[in-house]
Amino acid sequence: MNLKALAVFVLPAFGFFACNNSAESLQTHLSFNSKISKGEKLFEEKCSLCHSMRPCVGSEMYSVTGPDLKMISNSLQQKFVKADGTLHLEEANSFLADYVYFPDQTKAIMEQAVINRYGIMPSLKGSVTEEEIKHISNFIMTIKSE
Ligand code: HEC
Repeated sequence: MNLKALAVFVLPAFGFFACNNSAESLQTHLSFNSKISKGEKLFEEKCSLCHSMRPCVGSEMYSVTGPDLKMISNSLQQKFVKADGTLHLEEANSFLADYVYFPDQTKAIMEQAVINRYGIMPSLKGSVTEEEIKHISNFIMTIKSE
């Protein structure tokens, strides 16, 4: 088999299995409480470059730029959903607004191992508005855990 044929047959398979950001894989791997929301769409546009919307498994984690969406939503929900099930959305919104503009090791809620692996997130000041972050936060906080 020549190289060109290899590319035709093998690469699409990689595209299918790799943790990527297509809306299709997103729908099949995470359960959402409603159809695609504004926050989900914004996440895809502004964040999915580094945060895969489909959970990464095994060695896939080493080929991406940041933790996947599920890891982020799990950490945020652990922090901002209290033991009695109350969702502290305002607190989550302000945490996220602050982190996206001024990411910092001392504020990080991801495990140290995650930060060691990927490094601290770069600031997105100037490329996403506070209003957009609010929609994104609502989306991240309402993803249902499997
Ligand atoms: C250029 C790559 C990149 C983009 C774009 C990006 N992030 Fe990140 N993000 C990272 C990396 C790397 C980490 C892991 C290190 C850390 O926690 O700072 C991270 C971590 C996070 C965390 C966990 C923070 C914590 O407390 O440790 C949140 C929440 C987050 N990102 C939200 C977002 C949102 C929302 C967007 C889109 C508006 C976004 N990120 C866009 C790279 C990115």
